[in-house]
Amino acid sequence: VSSVEVDLAPIEPGQRVTVKWRGKPVFIDHRPPERIAEARAVDLNELIDPQTDGDRVVREEWLIVVGICTHLGCVPLGQRHGDPVGNWDGWFCPCHGSHYDTAGRVRRGPAPLNLEVPPYEFVTDTAVRIG
Ligand code: FES
Repeated sequence: VSSVEVDLAPIEPGQRVTVKWRGKPVFIDHRPPERIAEARAVDLNELIDPQTDGDRVVREEWLIVVGICTHLGCVPLGQRHGDPVGNWDGWFCPCHGSHYDTAGRVRRGPAPLNLEVPPYEFVTDTAVRIG
C-alpha cells in the first residue's frame, strides 16, 4: 500500500495545499476557527449526505479530503487563492456546479456524496501519513 507523508508545519491557518496520493489530488485545509465553526453549526437534516464534522476529521483544524468531485470526477476549485469556493466556503466544482462546505460535504448537487476522507494518521504533531 503506497502512502505519502506530509509535513504540516509550513501550512498556515487558512491555507490549503494539494498533495498527490495514489495519483489522486488530496486537499489539506488548515482550517481557521471560523471554518471549523461553520462546519460544526450545520443542521444534519439539511445535508445531502449527512455526516457530522467530527466524523470527518481527526483534528478539527485539519481537514483532509480527496479532491475529486463525487459526481463525475472533476477536481473542485477552492484550493488556490481567488478560486470560487461555492456558497458554503468550501469548494466549487466547475463541471456541473456542485458546492461543498468547509467539511468537504456536498451541499448542492448534482454530486451525491461528500468528498472522500482518505485513510490517514498523525505521525507527529505536525506530520500526517496518508494511506
Ligand atoms: Fe463535479 Fe459534475 S463532476 S459537478
